[in-house]
Amino acid sequence: MEGLFAGLDISTQSCKLVVIDTREQAAVYVDAVNYDDDLPHYGTRDGTVQGLGPGVSESDPLMWIEAVRLLFERLASDPQIDQRRIRAIAVSGQQHGLVALDAGGNLARPFAKLWNDFSTAEECELLTERVGGAERMIAEVGNTQRTGYTAPKILHLKRHEPRAYTRATTLFLVHNYVNWWLTDGVAVMEPGDTSGTALWSPVTGAWSKEVLDAIDPGLADKLPPVSPSDASIGTIAPNLAEAYSLSLDCVIDAGSGDNMYGAIGTGNVAPGIVTVSLGTSGTAYTFLEEPYVDPEGEIAAFCDSTGHHLPLLCVSNMANGYDAVVERFGMDHEAFDAVIDATEAGNGGRLLVPWYTGERTPDLPHAAPLYFGFGIGEFTKAVLSRAVLEGHVLNLWSGFRRLPVQPAVIHLTGGLSRSASWCQMIADVFEVETVPIEGEGAALGAAIHAAWVWGKEHEHEVPLAELAAPFLVLDAARRRTPTARNVEHYRILRRLYQALSDRVRGLPSDDDPFELRAALSEVALRSPRTGA
Ligand code: XUL
Repeated sequence: MEGLFAGLDISTQSCKLVVIDTREQAAVYVDAVNYDDDLPHYGTRDGTVQGLGPGVSESDPLMWIEAVRLLFERLASDPQIDQRRIRAIAVSGQQHGLVALDAGGNLARPFAKLWNDFSTAEECELLTERVGGAERMIAEVGNTQRTGYTAPKILHLKRHEPRAYTRATTLFLVHNYVNWWLTDGVAVMEPGDTSGTALWSPVTGAWSKEVLDAIDPGLADKLPPVSPSDASIGTIAPNLAEAYSLSLDCVIDAGSGDNMYGAIGTGNVAPGIVTVSLGTSGTAYTFLEEPYVDPEGEIAAFCDSTGHHLPLLCVSNMANGYDAVVERFGMDHEAFDAVIDATEAGNGGRLLVPWYTGERTPDLPHAAPLYFGFGIGEFTKAVLSRAVLEGHVLNLWSGFRRLPVQPAVIHLTGGLSRSASWCQMIADVFEVETVPIEGEGAALGAAIHAAWVWGKEHEHEVPLAELAAPFLVLDAARRRTPTARNVEHYRILRRLYQALSDRVRGLPSDDDPFELRAALSEVALRSPRTGA
């Protein structure tokens, strides 16, 4: 099967485009629009509208469309590539964001609440109460209600902006909205992203009437039908084909969430593989044939984009702490790595629990960061840098233990996977080999998915794993294995992290954080660092 296939990834801070050539088995075009820098008239910071209040995270959906237009324009003017040869496009989107349209196809509300918006904690409680408790909720939709998910955003709209809610005739997720624009009006959803609404069950493959009714008995009328993930939904709108010199036959794939496509772009299409994505959020997920429902709801029960399942851990604090410390001390990745190399694993028992702006997992929408064991004069560049990195990775590890998989190796993706310190830290704390995957995981995965779907529908079916394999490029130079000495420290620090976070949350804990802090100093004294 030969041809060009495109993947678009509408993420929180930027929009990316990857075009692959299945004959060359390579990505032949990669471009990105950064919302803050390239579309300054939207006035965003990190891709979100400013000044909306604590915990609120929203973006203007028209900004995403403008970003795609800009990418298409740049593609059309690049003589290296013949965009008329693009046979299919798939859109990957940040999950959970709510786009509300009125009957005329205009935004019923100017902004979309995003996956990292924490303003709907009350709606989560209300929904859980109305359905009869967390256990009942999990039985209905495989998940608890979290501020990140879409259901509480819909209830929030109904409660706080009832006119906009009434005006809204179609409720979309981010990628569905972009698909609707690309096809000039095809309104459908698909299981991968829909499983992140917490309105639809990945076990039954149907909307939960109980949860819909808990929001509004009329809600079903506003929700587009859910069609399969592994099929196309139409072709590109003729006006767009003309404007950007694309083929009128260019097919639009069903699309999916960024994590579902990140799985494909990182070779996570068979059991036993784990991807950790280090972006604005931190996620960890694995392919499963059957649904996995966590009785506590900490691991999200999501579908993938191939008709299977993708249990997923998401921590909402990831790049934020790292970016802040790097900016605060004027460092780049390399300078940060040098600081980490010069300091001791375990940070002498100082620990930073990185719940900077609430946290998705554990479910703490009102959380704040905790600084433990720091003396007054110890908020230095060295101590803070290490505390930030260790804190992020421990927060991820704490949730990761619940994923139903024992990986032999973890595939890393996302911006921070380019950092040697992050790769080593995850290997040491998780006690697993790590290897970064090159390329734009989700956008690349989208392009591969587009090729797979097009092939299936044009009598050129190639198994997805076979199609994806040549595009999986491991960054061998940054492959890391656990370091014995660091592992010894992190076994203690992990317990300290758990004890501290459990105690703050009022959960039982047998471990005493102060004793563990002392144990860490002891282990460091017993085997003083050499070199570095
Ligand atoms: C996953 C989640 C995030 C967003 C970020 O559930 O909320 O990973 O998809 O893009």
